[in-house]
Amino acid sequence: MGGRPAGLAGLPLLDDLGPLRGRRVLVRVDFNVPLERDGDRWVVADDYRIRASLPTLEWLVARGATVVCCTHLGRPSGPDDARCQLGPVRDALEALCPGVGLLENLRFDPGEPANDPAFVDRLVDGFDAYVNDAFSVAHRPHASVVGPPTRLPSAAGLRLATEVEVLTDLVSSPARPFVAVLGGAKVADKLGAVAAVARAADVVLVGGGMAYTFLAAQGRAVGASLLDPSRLEECRAVLDGSGHVELPSDVVALSPGGSYGAGESAGEVATFDGDLPDGWLGLDIGEATAAAFAKELAGAATILWNGPMGAFEDARFAHGTEAVAQATAASRAFSVVGGGDSERALSAAGLAEDVSFISTGGGAMLALLADGDLPGLAALRAAPNARGRR
Ligand code: 3PG
Ligand code: MG
Repeated sequence: MGGRPAGLAGLPLLDDLGPLRGRRVLVRVDFNVPLERDGDRWVVADDYRIRASLPTLEWLVARGATVVCCTHLGRPSGPDDARCQLGPVRDALEALCPGVGLLENLRFDPGEPANDPAFVDRLVDGFDAYVNDAFSVAHRPHASVVGPPTRLPSAAGLRLATEVEVLTDLVSSPARPFVAVLGGAKVADKLGAVAAVARAADVVLVGGGMAYTFLAAQGRAVGASLLDPSRLEECRAVLDGSGHVELPSDVVALSPGGSYGAGESAGEVATFDGDLPDGWLGLDIGEATAAAFAKELAGAATILWNGPMGAFEDARFAHGTEAVAQATAASRAFSVVGGGDSERALSAAGLAEDVSFISTGGGAMLALLADGDLPGLAALRAAPNARGRR
């Protein structure tokens, strides 16, 4: 794991692209947004990531460029995967920024995740410059993220640059106490970041899906909860390390055979202080844990929150996430919130205005804090127009 994020040093910015009038600019955005059903069609359920890139798109349009965006949406099985087609996203973009184009889902082509050079060639064909404004996917070494800067004059978009600046400042000189809350279910993506965040923060509060691997590493029985057995050693090392990591003392769980999700009600729900019985599925932090976490947050001068505390889309398991959202918003700390789920939980509670900065990135934010750099940033620093830039 690396040290502090390198920040903006060496990163080419929009001004480094030179004159843009009449030029065609390819902009990598992350419009991987949640969709929802509206009658018989899909619509964008949360356009936060689209609005986040509007300043960059408007900056380019105002300078006379022809702007075409490209993005992934979900993790499609193939081009027929209707839930990953970009029609609804294109409609939302057209309403917010008329005249800007949008290519079809990049991940419909296997060359995108494989970073196939032939796919990069096809992608940049006909373009004069490339802008990356997709902070939230900058941790993926995919073709559209790392390929174009090897071919075209390139720059970080306004949003990408802001994300890097805020997150770099957050860990380089935080006001203390610095309290981090980490949750969410992408365990493999996030576990590695806990150690790095623990080094920068005074305390790391762990909830959500990843908490169960930590609890199991402490010898607790976690029933049927999410568990990554390949990471138990790593969790033990983090818990034995110098950082102060706090785990849930109580857990809200669902009985065997129950089901969960928005609007579900099947199964019995109970809170357990210690071990979970066989077959029970931990889906939220308990009330005592939520109160303890809220108390830590109330005393913080800097807050980093990434990932929900449970399956908050199901009202039976929303309390822990809501408590963290409320405590973060109520705090006068400098507060940075990241990850699509945390952003949705804040917005749903009407609290999005009450935090200092909402990052578009979840995994990317943690990867930057853990590694000090991201493949998408390194690619921009190596672009032909970036050499020697400070
Ligand atoms: C995200 O939503 O986290 C980003 O868009 C990256 O998506 P991915 O985890 O499918 O690569
Ligand atoms: Mg606040």
